[in-house]
Amino acid sequence: MNILIIGAGGREHTLAWKIAQSPLCTSLFIAPGNAGSAQCGTNLPIAVTDFEKITQACLQHKIDLVVVGPEDPLVKGIVDYLKAQKTFEKMLIIGPSQTAAQLEGSKAFAKRFMMDYNIPTAAFRKFSIETYDDGVEYIKQHSLPIVLKADGLAAGKGVVICQSQVEALAEFDLMLHRSKFGDAGKTVVIEEFLEGLEMSVFFLTDGKNYVLLPEAKDYKRIGQKDTGLNTGGMGAVSPVPGFDAALKEKVIKQIIEPTLKGLQNEKLEYKGFVFLGLMISQGNPYMIEYNCRMGDPETEVVIPRIKNDLVSILMATAKQELDKLQIETDERTAVTVVAASGGYPGNFEAGKLIEGLKDAFVNDSIIFHAGTEEKNGKVFSRGGRVLAVTSFGNNIVDAAEHSNYLLEQVNFEGMYFRKDIGYEFK
Ligand code: AMP
Ligand code: GLY
Repeated sequence: MNILIIGAGGREHTLAWKIAQSPLCTSLFIAPGNAGSAQCGTNLPIAVTDFEKITQACLQHKIDLVVVGPEDPLVKGIVDYLKAQKTFEKMLIIGPSQTAAQLEGSKAFAKRFMMDYNIPTAAFRKFSIETYDDGVEYIKQHSLPIVLKADGLAAGKGVVICQSQVEALAEFDLMLHRSKFGDAGKTVVIEEFLEGLEMSVFFLTDGKNYVLLPEAKDYKRIGQKDTGLNTGGMGAVSPVPGFDAALKEKVIKQIIEPTLKGLQNEKLEYKGFVFLGLMISQGNPYMIEYNCRMGDPETEVVIPRIKNDLVSILMATAKQELDKLQIETDERTAVTVVAASGGYPGNFEAGKLIEGLKDAFVNDSIIFHAGTEEKNGKVFSRGGRVLAVTSFGNNIVDAAEHSNYLLEQVNFEGMYFRKDIGYEFK
């Protein structure tokens, strides 16, 4: 099969690394990819939302299977766009339709869906400019903290947790009257604050059946012990201690099964990854959010723990044959640690030479690239998150130590990484 992965991050390098190991993969392309994915296949210089150029690339390289990594092209409708081309009738595509991608693309849509199918989640209401005054009243009556969310995609920045009513009123005003998040903030969801352990559960669905993938927990804050600004994710662990059989069963019965029922009831076309952002409160799972794709850096620990051939799994997903498949999981613990550019998630400089990549090798570790590019045989930083080093171990301490050790052999100007990934489980 000729396979095209869309995306440029650590998630896509990980998918490329796994897919390239498959005997079913003839040629692998990544658009646009990074210096790491270039070692697994051929990078194509195409932006993830340039549907026309992606279509041309599919024709030129006779692509049989497309795997869409990030949310942006999914929410913009890449799956429907490709499916509408007659020549692509037989092409397999991993990702939800544009309407189904609303589960991530619109928080109001997702909350409505959760309510309709009795999926446990925080109590909420949605407001727009027309109902501004009702929103003000709602905030004034609400317990603290209060969570305000821009409805649409806001590059991970659209959620504000407010510790006072004054702060919440000011944020509400910024979102609705001053377009703080542009069109994404034209509708605002206000919801109850959930307390507990945050973790993520992933599954692949073919629209009818599903297979559960290994779970993960990511570390979103820039600073040690979860302090400082939110980032895309500075590290992740899998499995998550405490995610036992009883909790898994609750997630399946209370969240996954009703989600599938909802997809079918509403005829939402969905053949792809579902990422459940959960809060575990007193042993019970609550949905924070749906994502219609894999997480990054969660992919860097989830995918290496899957023993099956990934292409077979993806083919079964696209052909609606997931009922015939069993996922085999590596029992060991995987920890990934992200190396970021100095200053990230604020302003940072890219284009820094990365040294030590070749010398850095520890058994049971893999260096995934995120924001990197190659020029004349040398690798340079290109983004905020630059590398994600995944290691296996018998426990979190062991695996994290390997990744930290390996990152100490690598260097680029301003490089920063958290040395405490998995700290609360140590
Ligand atoms: P989201 O953009 O929906 O992923 O939200 C970003 C982060 O805000 C989540 O990962 C949580 O840490 C936090 N968050 C969102 N909603 C809630 C909530 N209702 N209660 C507590 N924390 C939340
Ligand atoms: N690491 C969080 C995400 O991918 O959304």
